[in-house]
Amino acid sequence: MGGTCIVLNTSVSGRHSLAVPRQRPRGDGASGSPMRLAIIGIGYLGLTHAVCMADLGHEVIGLDADAAKVASAAGGVAPFFEPGLEPLLQKNLDAGRLTFTTSYAEAGAFADVHFLCVGTPQAPDGSADVSHVHAAADALAPHLAGPCLVVGKSTVPVGTARNLLARIQAAAPAGQQVEVAWNPEFLREGTAIRDSLSPDRLVFGVTSEQSTELLRQVYAAPLADGTPGLVMDLETAELVKVSANAFLATKVSFINAMAEVCEKVGADVVRLAEALACDERIGGRYLAPGLGFGGGCLPKDIRAFSSAATGLGIESVAELLSTVEAINLNRRSRVVELAREAVGGTLAGTRVAVLGLAFKPGSDDVRDSPSLHVCGLLSREAAVVTVHDPVAMKNAARLQPDLRYADSVSEAAADADVVLHLTEWPDYRVIDPVMLGAVVAQRNMIDARCALDDELWRSAGWSFRGLGRPRN
Ligand SMILES: NC(=O)c1ccc[n+]([C@@H]2O[C@H](COP(=O)([O-])OP(=O)(O)OC[C@H]3O[C@@H](n4cnc5c(N)ncnc54)[C@H](O)[C@@H]3O)[C@@H](O)[C@H]2O)c1
Repeated sequence: MGGTCIVLNTSVSGRHSLAVPRQRPRGDGASGSPMRLAIIGIGYLGLTHAVCMADLGHEVIGLDADAAKVASAAGGVAPFFEPGLEPLLQKNLDAGRLTFTTSYAEAGAFADVHFLCVGTPQAPDGSADVSHVHAAADALAPHLAGPCLVVGKSTVPVGTARNLLARIQAAAPAGQQVEVAWNPEFLREGTAIRDSLSPDRLVFGVTSEQSTELLRQVYAAPLADGTPGLVMDLETAELVKVSANAFLATKVSFINAMAEVCEKVGADVVRLAEALACDERIGGRYLAPGLGFGGGCLPKDIRAFSSAATGLGIESVAELLSTVEAINLNRRSRVVELAREAVGGTLAGTRVAVLGLAFKPGSDDVRDSPSLHVCGLLSREAAVVTVHDPVAMKNAARLQPDLRYADSVSEAAADADVVLHLTEWPDYRVIDPVMLGAVVAQRNMIDARCALDDELWRSAGWSFRGLGRPRN
């Protein structure tokens, strides 16, 4: 591929008119030429990808090492919460386009294109642990049958794809023609279906025209709908994902650094962000001040990128990302500081109500959840913490069983000395401060997501503090 980047349709540059005519209507699976796809790893990314690919009309087999996950998905139950996923899962199971297995032999014999969607968790030294990617490739390679393409979707350090190509070619049956491509995924939990079916862009890291052609067939529908398809080398494709996450994390931390400044000088970061967002060079997305980022991707991905940059001797990138992370973590301790101030200096024995545990609304994911981190800090200071979340309580209870779990907002807030708003679920925006004021011991609200109407709360007699916002 050299260093070139080809655009697969005219919507980006108009240089290459390779748009694919729509082969079949979405989800009918009847006309056109559906492909046979295997999706290895059916976690948040893989199950969503499997369901969406089946909905585009492809025949899909989903594989996971976790037999319970496979049984759950095969029975139409998603092992995690994602809006819209279960009905689409059931629809495609019913249509016979989607099956699940734990057998690599079955997946190897079935598919022409194999997507690797296994996890890349953080290793103890902060780098990305790619052992699951290696294990999946090692298990799949001996079962590959007929010319096929293995496509990585997991987020990996640059260089992983090229190593994997050598690894798979060495382990595949003699004479087996196999190629590796990288097609990083940009879906966001909470909007994963829409992001998968109508992505902002499709990135294809390839080593040959055949790989490009196969990926173009897999994604014929979104490409025909005008999604830009960008073809590039393996290394650049890997870097697109990690640099996108690094940029987004930096943008979040930038506005949160401005929140720190606002707190010192009595300015309002919400008004500041609104004004910055009007500048089209800046834009408003990922510019919401608050408790910062968390979840299964951004934190681990920036640590992994930082570690990789250090390995490459590029200290400036490592320093930039460690500052981004430090700003992010500061917001969590700042919330605890505000809670301490609200209750008069010490949290020991005070009752704290926490609203929201998921790392973001629309998800039950509590991996690296800022809210759970804050709960841990409060517990460490011997506060009595009662929590509520619409969907994430089960996952949270596995990580922090000692918190008190309440079935409703009022139950969580009963007799509380301070209430912390930590995940901006829509339901929390419409809480009636008068109603909640009647159940708490003291009317102290700390809005760590800058999402509540401060005037409304103050007029109902609450002492209201928002991160990065003036005292009153
Ligand atoms: N979750 C997201 O929003 C998202 C978005 C974009 C990219 N990613 C990336 O996608 C990858 C997967 O993330 P996730 O959130 O889906 O993780 P996850 O932990 O939810 O899922 C990973 C799945 O892989 C399975 N697995 C692990 N080793 C396996 C093996 N050898 N064979 C078969 N199955 C195996 C696990 O059982 C698990 O079900 C990561 O690299 C992540 O950074 C995630």
